[in-house]
Amino acid sequence: MSAMKNFVGWIDDRFPLTKVWNEHLAEYYAPKNFNFWYFMGSLAMLVLVNQILTGVWLAMSYKPDADLAFGSVEYIMRDVDWGWLIRYLHSTGASAFLIVIYLHMFRGLMYGSYRKPRELLWIIGVVIYLAMMATAFFGYLLPWGQMSFWGAQVIVNLFSAIPVIGPDLGVWIRGDYVISDATLNRFFALHFLLPFLLAALVFVHIVALHKVGSNNPDGIEIKKNKDENGIPKDGIPFHPYYSVKDIAGVAGFLFLFAAVVFFAPEMGGFFIEHPNFEPANPLKTPEHIAPVWYFTPFYAILRAVPSIAGSAFPGVAAMLLSIVVMFFLPWLDRSPVKSIRYKGVIFKASLAIFVVAFIMLGYLGTQPTTEGKTLLAQIGTVLYFAFFLLMPIYSKMDKTKPVPERVTK
Ligand code: HEM
Repeated sequence: MSAMKNFVGWIDDRFPLTKVWNEHLAEYYAPKNFNFWYFMGSLAMLVLVNQILTGVWLAMSYKPDADLAFGSVEYIMRDVDWGWLIRYLHSTGASAFLIVIYLHMFRGLMYGSYRKPRELLWIIGVVIYLAMMATAFFGYLLPWGQMSFWGAQVIVNLFSAIPVIGPDLGVWIRGDYVISDATLNRFFALHFLLPFLLAALVFVHIVALHKVGSNNPDGIEIKKNKDENGIPKDGIPFHPYYSVKDIAGVAGFLFLFAAVVFFAPEMGGFFIEHPNFEPANPLKTPEHIAPVWYFTPFYAILRAVPSIAGSAFPGVAAMLLSIVVMFFLPWLDRSPVKSIRYKGVIFKASLAIFVVAFIMLGYLGTQPTTEGKTLLAQIGTVLYFAFFLLMPIYSKMDKTKPVPERVTK
């Protein structure tokens, strides 16, 4: 034991190991009332690690060449030892990542975790979300299936709809006038790079979190209520209490994740779309082009906004704004309380309507358009933006409840 102590002492003289361990784990005090929703941050880290590991292993057999890519994925699925498992862990992992992150963001909305002093933490989160979307978009081209090709075609064309710079921007992104081998090569390079940027952003996210401390389901700042030793009365050391609790979350997650990976890895076409089992064919447009489920709410917003003079730009602008608006959330909420527990019926109803609108848009984005569906998507779009843009008004009007001094349960 003393040999171990000596060794740690030797490290500590050269690197702040014990200091970092204590500051961020053993003496890092987190609110004692974390619930289910607080599992998502650690699960997101787990899935990020899964994506990086399985991604690197896939890259060992994948070929980023328009003539070979589709075949190399089939080769991984059939001939590489355990290749099918590595690929499904990665493709199902992408959807799991987005599910976990949507729940993580929803928790933020419920408990007002974006509010002062966590504005920057939230903003870093939205940047992470954008980086995740870019990573997923680049990755989806790589199997070079029909939906990879045509999905990328549609999305890059959206950038071409931007006035003045659009057409050049489209060529710059593709490296060609159409999606081609050059596009595949650069998307592979970027898809390999971005997860490491994500990991760096997650590090910054955690640094920001540890500067201000976690919020909690009551939305009470535990740092405002400390004992004589300067320890928050409602705080418990992250390690061992939450390190152990998070393992329970990991176990629950792995049960569900393994069930999907082994029994429904394509999730009936939601996680890998059916046309992606056909090789990309630039001469044959699929009947219906739709992005993967996690993009569809934004795709529905894009299609809901009518073109002006043949230009799709208004739709593209609405789609971009639907994400940009998230950056401003910390300043839109004017409620005197943070957590939904103490907010009034107006905020609760607004959040419920927002969730229904988001899910409805997500569904509509997977469907071919009809007049009725476009109308529904337009209603969904208005509700989506209303949640954010009317927040300064309704969050002030809302009748809130008194917040207790100490956390409850
Ligand atoms: C790779 C993606 C991400 C990872 C690995 C990650 C990780 C974490 C972790 C470990 C925590 C602390 C534990 C917890 O509260 O669950 C946390 C807290 C938080 N995250 Fe993230 N996060 C990610 C993305 C995001 C995104 C996209 C947003 C918002 C747009 C966000 C906003 C927040 C906020 C506001 C908190 C503090 C919550 C509170 O204390 O109530 N995060 N994150």
